[in-house]
Amino acid sequence: MVSAGDAVIVELPTYDRTLLSLRGRGADVRMVELEVDGIDVAGSSGCLARACVRRCAHHSNFQNPAGYTLSLPKRERLLELSREYGFMVFEDDPYVELRFSGETLPTMVSMDRSVSSTPRPSPRPSPRGSASAIWSAARGDRED
Ligand SMILES: Cc1ncc(COP(=O)(O)O)c(C=O)c1O
Repeated sequence: MVSAGDAVIVELPTYDRTLLSLRGRGADVRMVELEVDGIDVAGSSGCLARACVRRCAHHSNFQNPAGYTLSLPKRERLLELSREYGFMVFEDDPYVELRFSGETLPTMVSMDRSVSSTPRPSPRPSPRGSASAIWSAARGDRED
């Protein structure tokens, strides 16, 4: 999914394993400031203008480590940018099912399908969940 030299946008800060795996693959990691409503999309646009970005890896809900959730307008804007610049949004969303209150926002994968029903050349968002995060929360697993 990522080759050596590919420019990839990630949030600053982000999950250490995301960074380790991208750096292990030789990706050109571009870090963009995380705000309380998700990644700074203006900062992302700046990266897109400077580099040929192939991927954007981000956490939509309860970002690890900051805990912030990407707002609906920012989800829409990131999808617009991905169409405009032809990069893939990798939606790492292990905590999507752990909401206890507040509004559940649509995943970017579902939003992309609803805005584009015909095949398009640029890559579609790619989702990632985590069964272990959901099971351990449901069972109340703890280290102690
Ligand atoms: C953002 C993020 N992605 C991926 C993972 C890893 O999930 P799993 O253990 O199911 O591979 C975690 C776990 O902490 C995470 O916080």
